[in-house]
Amino acid sequence: EEPVIILGIETSCDETAAAVVKNGRELLANEVASQMDIHKRFGGVVPEVASRRHVEHITLVIEEALKKANVSAAQLSAIAVTKGPGLVGALLVGVSAAKAMAFAHQLPLVGVHHIAGHIYANRLVTEFQFPNVTLVVSGGHTELILMEKHGEYQILGETRDDAAGEAYDKVARALDLPYPGGPHIDRMSKKGKDTINFPRAWLEAGSYDFSFSGLKSAVLNYLNQASQKGEAIQKPDVAASFQESVVDVLVTKTMKAAQAYGAKQVLLAGGVACNSRLRERMTAACAQEGFPLVIPPAYLCTDNAAMIAAAGYIEFLKGNREYMDLNASPGLML
Ligand code: KG4
Ligand code: ZN
Repeated sequence: EEPVIILGIETSCDETAAAVVKNGRELLANEVASQMDIHKRFGGVVPEVASRRHVEHITLVIEEALKKANVSAAQLSAIAVTKGPGLVGALLVGVSAAKAMAFAHQLPLVGVHHIAGHIYANRLVTEFQFPNVTLVVSGGHTELILMEKHGEYQILGETRDDAAGEAYDKVARALDLPYPGGPHIDRMSKKGKDTINFPRAWLEAGSYDFSFSGLKSAVLNYLNQASQKGEAIQKPDVAASFQESVVDVLVTKTMKAAQAYGAKQVLLAGGVACNSRLRERMTAACAQEGFPLVIPPAYLCTDNAAMIAAAGYIEFLKGNREYMDLNASPGLML
């Protein structure tokens, strides 16, 4: 049988990415042009700067991915692109490039939800068993998702305020750490101890929702009060205590959902899935409760196009197609 070779394109935030994936699971090339160094100067992603950078890089990144995969555009089965959610100007660059290529080479075009992409990063590592439960934790999202079959997503819970990565980045900024702060807090925590009892937002009994803004405020208040009293602040202890509070809630709620729905697998997705403490505690919890756990390598957790091609493969098989009227959907629902 003919292999299905999909070119994935992702430009929803600050990474310009293109990848080639065979039959939904085999990674042939994975190119990412990061804009992190530019946005670092501003302490966060500047949407207009991101769009311009995507325009400058998108053609090169696509060409490089095809070259590394040793595949010509004519050999592709389809093009998959992130259509949302994300920054509208950033998304539009990927969508426009995908439409131009699909038109020029007469290829089928498939639209992918960014979160579906993050989830399918796991399928580049291990075949899915259903039902499975995914914890998606990124800069823009915190969601627990149940899947009973390919391409169908049921949101069990989500954040009511800040995303987990957003909380990491805001607390990092208060600790004078560079953007994005998640990896810095992760590293700094290793030098500290969980000595400060920050709150954990469990919400109503049985809820799979999350809330991190109260925790963020508690950390900021702690820092303000200590500096007003002229007390020395042990930054590594603040980082470790904050991290323990976040990870505690993420792991506990994921385990509850896995039990309630009889999960055959627990999956981790999104940039915060790089976090060493989250990986450690989720590994221990899943081992204790007997759930097989999948964690993609770091380069598949943060934004990339391989995950978009992997999720796009499922849409392609289902026959879902987009045409020249495809537009970016900054607020797209899963
Ligand atoms: O998935 P991603 O690359 O982009 C979005 O779709 O948002 O996630 C980026 C987020 C940032 O908030 C970053 O601080 C966080 O992931 N992050 C981490 C770690 N590595 C990245 N957070 C905690 N610990 C890490 N090691
Ligand atoms: Zn993402």
